[in-house]
Amino acid sequence: MKAPVRIAITGAAGQIGYQLIFRIAAGDMLGKDQPVILQLIEIPPALEMLKGVVMEVDDSAFPLVQDIIATTELDEGFNQADYAILVGSKPRGPGMERADLLSANGQIFGPQGASMNRVASRDVKVLVVGNPANTNALIAQANAPDLPPENFTAMTRLDHNRALAQLGQKQSVHHASIRNMTIWGNHSSTQYPDLHHVNIDGKPVMPHVDQTWYESEFIPTVQQRGAAIIKARGASSAASAASSAIDHIRDWALGTPENDWVSMAVPADGSYGIEPGVIYSFPCRCNDGHWEIVQGLEINPFSRERMDATDQELRQERQAVEDLL
Ligand code: NAD
Ligand code: LMR
Repeated sequence: MKAPVRIAITGAAGQIGYQLIFRIAAGDMLGKDQPVILQLIEIPPALEMLKGVVMEVDDSAFPLVQDIIATTELDEGFNQADYAILVGSKPRGPGMERADLLSANGQIFGPQGASMNRVASRDVKVLVVGNPANTNALIAQANAPDLPPENFTAMTRLDHNRALAQLGQKQSVHHASIRNMTIWGNHSSTQYPDLHHVNIDGKPVMPHVDQTWYESEFIPTVQQRGAAIIKARGASSAASAASSAIDHIRDWALGTPENDWVSMAVPADGSYGIEPGVIYSFPCRCNDGHWEIVQGLEINPFSRERMDATDQELRQERQAVEDLL
């Protein structure tokens, strides 16, 4: 039996938390042989609801769950955490951009970064889901100076998965046969879903992609998918967000397949001319618990313009939260 790993989840009683916890408990994230200790963090008004969630986890009798902690105290929730999935924050409503949440949500992530800096595992792997996710990850990272900066990531895997689904439907192929999808930049409407490196069953897809569809349908559909779901459901995506969070951590921890890569928002290091420091989504390969930005991809002027626009937005968001960094 492996030693259990500690997984901290904020916003654990919310929509995404309710999906995430049960998938993790079932072994979908770290494997069916990896016991887990769930460290669930909420704010006081949601504690009663969180207790109800804990009752349901208990009632599921998951073989992998060794212990469950439900708390409103950050240092208790992040204590020795090996993984931290930061979901807790407000979702946007209709007509809002995710960046409109910055002033309400930004202040949540500084104290969480500081708490992890005090009590989490020295190698805690952090995934920020709460919006605006990229800049919230930057805030958490800035408040955790003793932890590895590269361990602070934000989620664009949902956008990546959305892009796979849209392309698969258009090309009449199963999305599992699509490789090397890339989301560049911010988890926002400036993100750039890039098909130039994609191949399907080993063949480049671009020669079969209609440029008008690419520019006027595919890119805007992926960029606006979150808003479309809010309009249809009256609430933001939850099950698909939780599923993508599981994909993100699983691939980071256990590795990406040989012939593929994934999109992860990670601290920019100057690769592809992106402003160092901003948390920017790149094509990444993971091995042995470490991610690496895929290097050497050819970037044409169409892509360059879009990659720079989303970089620009992230620089502006960073400037807007300077006092929290
Ligand atoms: P929700 O309102 O259902 O749940 C949020 C939970 O967070 C609530 O239970 C609330 O009590 C809790 N919370 C609020 N402040 C907290 C704090 N300081 N500490 C701990 N918990 C706190 O919302 P949801 O649908 O679960 O969405 C959560 C966030 O995830 C939103 O910001 C949403 O926009 C974002 N999101 C991101 C993606 C992505 O792809 N990155 C996808 C979907 C949703
Ligand atoms: C999403 O992409 O579904 C989430 O970021 C929620 C939102 O506000 O769009």
